[in-house]
Amino acid sequence: MNPAAVQTTTPPTTSKQRSAPYDAFHAARARTDLTARLYAAAMGEDYPSEVSASSSCDWPLLGLLTARLRMSPDQLLVDAGCGTGGIGLWLARALAVRLEGFDLSPIAIAQATTRRPHFLDRKATWARFRIAELADTGLSDGCADGIVCVDVLGRSADKVSAMCELGRVLAPGGRLAMTRSLRPGTTAAWTEQAQAAGLEVEHVDERPAEPVMWERLYRLWIAHADDLIGELGGGQAQSMLREAHRMLPLLVGRRAVLLTLRRPATGPVGSPAAARMTTLDRRVGNSPTFSGRTPQ
Ligand SMILES: C[S@@+](CC[C@H](N)C(=O)[O-])C[C@H]1O[C@@H](n2cnc3c(N)ncnc32)[C@H](O)[C@@H]1O
Repeated sequence: MNPAAVQTTTPPTTSKQRSAPYDAFHAARARTDLTARLYAAAMGEDYPSEVSASSSCDWPLLGLLTARLRMSPDQLLVDAGCGTGGIGLWLARALAVRLEGFDLSPIAIAQATTRRPHFLDRKATWARFRIAELADTGLSDGCADGIVCVDVLGRSADKVSAMCELGRVLAPGGRLAMTRSLRPGTTAAWTEQAQAAGLEVEHVDERPAEPVMWERLYRLWIAHADDLIGELGGGQAQSMLREAHRMLPLLVGRRAVLLTLRRPATGPVGSPAAARMTTLDRRVGNSPTFSGRTPQ
């Protein structure tokens, strides 16, 4: 399910209305492995089958998330719009971090919760999943050392409110890694959105293979229309087929990126940590070689 495909004509007002299309998708997906098989066919060797995401999450994205978050064991990772939890759980196991996942779909949250022992075994309680929304996560100020948000900010979402809320939750020095996509001819607004949330753009990693993958996936959905109807039911299959037909022409020239935003690490003035940082900053100078940032 592509977040850019969420339609905005009649904005839903209640959380039940907002979660309904996602609930239907996650429930249908749980009844058959056909959708997973089609994602696997579209991604080929890049498909991380254990994660089984409902998104563009492939092995290169998992690698980038791991590298960009730079987390330490025992820290807290938040998976915002976690769906059935595969990405957060995979990262929690790989990085030995605690996990707090949230999603507006109760069906997705129930599935994510049952997947915890598979990934974390006896440390299953290190992961918690809750029903919540991007604009009101219910998480405390500065509790997260890292946040991932994969294919959640569709074109209907209020991106600034969502980013402000995630920025509030992020600890000083923590990072938010989120996928974003742009239609051709549009200018990225993420620098201004990040500033509004008190965050800095640290990296913009281009993902040119992502629109190509969506094109392959949508063509597979159309080619397997009868199978989808048979296995998922007419309603859900028709909704996926409508998405495929509507999105296919919009993929031409589309730009997909992984955006890494950082909350500045502000230590108390005069503290030993701040003094150490100042000395180090002076030693490395302002050379872009040492900034660790991707050129913007
Ligand atoms: C395309 S799926 C991606 C799920 C997961 N991140 C992944 O990559 O597998 C989008 C998910 O975002 C959730 N979602 C959409 N809008 C949301 C919002 N405003 N707040 C929280 N979750 C949201 C949906 O319920 C759905 O599970």
